[in-house]
Amino acid sequence: MLAATGAAVGLGNFWKFPHMVGEAGGAFVVVYLVFMVVMALPLLMAELVLGRATQQNPVCAIQALTKRETTSSNPAWNYFGWVIVITGILILSYYSVVAGWILAYALRTAVGIFQEIDTVEEIRSTFTIFVSDPEKLLAWHTIFVFMTIGISGRDFRRGLENTVRLVVPIMFALLLILVFHSATVHEFRQNLNSLFHIDFARLTLPHVMHAMQQAFFSLSLGVGVMMAYGAYLNKTVSIFQLSVSIIVLDTVVALLAVCLLYPVVLSTELEFSSGVTLVFQTVPMAFGAMPGGAYWGTLFFIVLVLAAWTSAIALLEPSVAWLTARHGWRRAKAAMVAGLIVWALGLINILSLNYWAFSFEFFDAHMVNGWLDIMDIITSTVMLPLIALLVAVFSGWVVSREYVKKQLGSSIVNYTLWLVLIRFAVPCLIVVVFVYLLLR
Ligand code: TRP
Repeated sequence: MLAATGAAVGLGNFWKFPHMVGEAGGAFVVVYLVFMVVMALPLLMAELVLGRATQQNPVCAIQALTKRETTSSNPAWNYFGWVIVITGILILSYYSVVAGWILAYALRTAVGIFQEIDTVEEIRSTFTIFVSDPEKLLAWHTIFVFMTIGISGRDFRRGLENTVRLVVPIMFALLLILVFHSATVHEFRQNLNSLFHIDFARLTLPHVMHAMQQAFFSLSLGVGVMMAYGAYLNKTVSIFQLSVSIIVLDTVVALLAVCLLYPVVLSTELEFSSGVTLVFQTVPMAFGAMPGGAYWGTLFFIVLVLAAWTSAIALLEPSVAWLTARHGWRRAKAAMVAGLIVWALGLINILSLNYWAFSFEFFDAHMVNGWLDIMDIITSTVMLPLIALLVAVFSGWVVSREYVKKQLGSSIVNYTLWLVLIRFAVPCLIVVVFVYLLLR
């Protein structure tokens, strides 16, 4: 549960969710929760089922099931596992670059750099200068990739399990401390009351679509991570209960992130932006402006580092598990090989921000982050919904019902409701989001 929570809680909880709540208020939270239940929950259960039933990595799990337990053994499913593993690697190749920036900003906040910055122009140029220095970015990226390999390369129980057992509770504790601190800042209660006020008039169609997309990404679905973790899951654990716990913990972190960030940003004149601007400009500046800000800001970046670290370890797991099974390698070797591929792909991302930046000029003006943005769009807008759709079809229609029933138990909530959602609601919703996002 902690490993899956560590995978789910990531940068998305801190830089996307709070921004959306800022825009559409409590109504966004309500819609988000609905999608969590009708779409994300059945998909999470499906991934865990596929992993636990086969006790194998995503590639072998799907191949084994296609051979043994399906109604139609179409050989095309054999390639499906590959797509999943490759998508994880692609995501990690930019996730680790951004995580490197976070390491750098943790250090910068700790030494008090942001205390001396008073204008938005200054903070913006600090960031621009930072990303135009490839050597610096490479150094931080390398450190982060090796932090990930260091854990993934060890034996599963001693490496990953012990790490999440330590890191996830520490992350929660630090987050709570930060929220308590925020509660002392600037009319906390009034601000949050008006922030979370439920008014459906503020909700637009794009907000609903983003709620759906965010529900799904926040749980790290569609890259086989939950499938890979499911393989290590004890047979006696109820998949339904486990999935509900993961969803609750992930949502709690997202809500705490709002309670933490909103008062801090509101205490300044700054606007509540999202993404890169929020984390690398607005937040450092807001903390820089408050008493003891260096201390609180550092704590905030440490929380982000921990969140990104457990997500990165998760992203590497499907490939490590696959390489160990396929080639009989030890985990250390598998993690090193997969990690070096990620490192090399990350290098392309880094160079696209500076030396090779000119080649991105013909892209839209939104593409300020070079190849990173392109990778993000390819993976999160195209690959992940597609994989999730295939997971839904595969687990709902292709794998034999009896087989799934053995994993989920036969009660109405655990099985019947799940089957209805995964067969009809989930595919329809994904197609709707997919078409909407492509036409946008
Ligand atoms: N859930 C992560 C977040 O909220 C992002 C993410 C998407 C992810 N897919 C993933 C993390 C797969 C780990 C593995 O930021």
